[in-house]
Order: sequence, then structure tokens, then C-alpha cells
Amino acid sequence: PERKVVFSGIQPTGVPHLGNYLGALRQWVRLLHEHEAAPDATLLFSIVDLHAITVKQDPRALRQWRREMLASLIAVGLDPARCVLFAQSRVKQHAELMWILSCGASMGYLGRMTQWKSKMQLPDTASPLASAAATSQLKLGLFSYPVLQAADILLYNTTHVPVGEDQAQHLEFTRELAIGFNHLYGPLLTVPETQLSPAKRVMSLAEPTKKMSKSDPKPKSRILITDSRDAIHAKLRSALTDSVEGVSYDRDARPGVSNLVDLIYHFDQAGAASPEELALDLKDLSMRALKEKAADTIDRSIAPVRERYEELMSGDQKELVAHTEHGAQKAEAIAESTMQRVRAAMGM
Ligand code: ADP
Ligand code: NA
Repeated sequence: PERKVVFSGIQPTGVPHLGNYLGALRQWVRLLHEHEAAPDATLLFSIVDLHAITVKQDPRALRQWRREMLASLIAVGLDPARCVLFAQSRVKQHAELMWILSCGASMGYLGRMTQWKSKMQLPDTASPLASAAATSQLKLGLFSYPVLQAADILLYNTTHVPVGEDQAQHLEFTRELAIGFNHLYGPLLTVPETQLSPAKRVMSLAEPTKKMSKSDPKPKSRILITDSRDAIHAKLRSALTDSVEGVSYDRDARPGVSNLVDLIYHFDQAGAASPEELALDLKDLSMRALKEKAADTIDRSIAPVRERYEELMSGDQKELVAHTEHGAQKAEAIAESTMQRVRAAMGM
């Protein structure tokens, strides 16, 4: 069987919320446990700060958020001694490969990316003229973001990329770039596979038809993985549900209630076989009791994460950052070996 290389990244945007945790980080931790015993598997997880600067960042906040993300990743179980954990900006080859790949990247393809279109706030069917007007306000880095993402992945001969559904299109673009490069210069880049996260989207507590997101202005819409027991209970008490009696599972008709059932389901290790089955078990609960059960279940699961995070953030900050130095060196060695082959093949 082929060597397995897993790569995934997350932006340094402060402490992750339950959506980030269930949609991405918990999957990473599971992969780490699955492959711990496999000597020919490499798992790389990157705090992608070069991606973060595609929108304006305050330098002090960026530094702080990178630290908070690092402590969060270690706290959820990504032990830097067992995987390659590093900050993207520390490995210069990301920017170098990005430039090379961008010389072969189609503007048209990039312009059709759903995430770019949503940043322009245009419908997928917008005319070229409307697109051009919106584009003049936007930055090149945001437009070419998927090329950097491709470089992140291709530098490490990645075979598997665990991502949420929203990233599937970027992964397809990465595959196309790798195939295009290999066609011109020989089979140097590994064409990766997408591993879609099995978790459904976690919805906002305040507006359960929208996904839980850090960009939501209402802090009560999301629970952070470091929230205190009191904060978790308070946020759940104010969660929007409905006035139907009892608990049942229907993501369309009862999004608020179903979101709470999903949360209990995902966090309750000894739980039911499906959220539907869990909802049957809970059918006689009042809304108040359901919220309390959700709060207790979430609190019990993330309490160790919160404690480990507090420990890391209250300790020596230099020591915290030093945790990634070994990872960065390992990442750099792999990245540089890829780049030596790429440069040679291209005549540089
Ligand atoms: P946000 O939407 O809060 O800005 P990001 O876009 O930075 O989060 O996403 C980081 C990771 O977390 C991605 O893998 C994304 O798919 C996942 N993710 C973000 N929000 C959710 C959610 N509400 N439910 C499930 N997964 C999510
Ligand atoms: Na986002």
C-alpha cells in the first residue's frame, strides 16, 4: 500500500468553536489515533497564517490568535510529539511553490470558485461586468487563496486531505494543478484525495438555519471549546428552539431542536446509534431540560480541553511556541526536498 500523508490546515482565528471542533479538529485527532501505530503514515497540521492575511489583520491580534490556535490544537489532542504541527509562515516553501503553481493556474477557474463569489457577494450567475466592478475592491491574495492552499497540500506529497464540504471545490482545483504540473514537468506532484468530514454542519445557537461561525457578530451564537461551564449553560439557555412540545428530529422543520440533539449525539460517547434514535429517547423532555442536557453533555466532554488550554496559556508563552519548532523543521525538510525536485525539473 502507498505511504499515507495527511495534511490539513486551520486559520489562526482564535479559539475554535464547536463547529470547527466537530467539523474538523476532532477528525484530525481521530486520524492521529488511527495512524499512531502506522510507521509509514505522516500527519501534518498547519496553522495557516499566510491564509489569514488575505483579509486585513492587526499584527498583535494575529500573534495572539496564532498562540490561541496552537494551544487549542494541543489541548484537543494534537500532541506535537506525535504529529507535524507548525505555523505555515515558518516554512517559506509554501510561498515559493504557490508562485510556481500560480503561473499555471487559470484565472477563469479561480473566478468560478464559490467562496470567491460569496466574498464578492455576487450570485453564481453574475455577469462578467458585475464581477469586474466587485473585483476592483478585492485583493489579489484573496483571489489566489486556493493556489496557496494547493501549494500547502502538494509540498508534502499529501495523499489525503480531510476537509469540510465547503472546501471540496478547492481540493478539486489542487488536483487539477498537480495534474497540469505533472503533465508539463513529469510526475513530481502527488495528486491528493479528498476525505470529507462525516459530521453534519453545526448550526448557530441564535439562528439555527445558519452555520455556527466565528464571524457571527452574536457571541451567544457559538460555544468555544474553552468556554466555562457557566458560559455553556448560559448560551444554551438562550438558544433558539421552537414552541412544539417535546423533542423530535427534523433539521428542516425544527432546526434549533435538531441542532441540540446533534450536539448531544456528537458529544455523548456512549450514545444512541443516530440522532433520530437519540431524539426518540429524549422525546418527553421539555425545551428547558433538553438545553440542560446539551449543556451538561458538552461541558463534560470539553472540560479536559478547557483545562489543558488554560494550563498552556498561563504557562511560558515561549515554551508554548517552541512546541512547534520541531514540527516546523520536519515540515521544512519535506517541503525543501519537494522544492529541489520541482526547481530542477523546471530548470531553476
Ligand atoms: P468559520 O466558519 O467559523 O469562519 P472556518 O471557515 O475557519 O470557520 O473553518 C475552519 C474549519 O471548521 C473548516 O474545516 C470548516 O469546514 C469547519 N467548520 C467551520 N464552521 C463549521 C460548522 N458550523 N459546522 C461544521 N464544521 C465547521
Ligand atoms: Na469561514
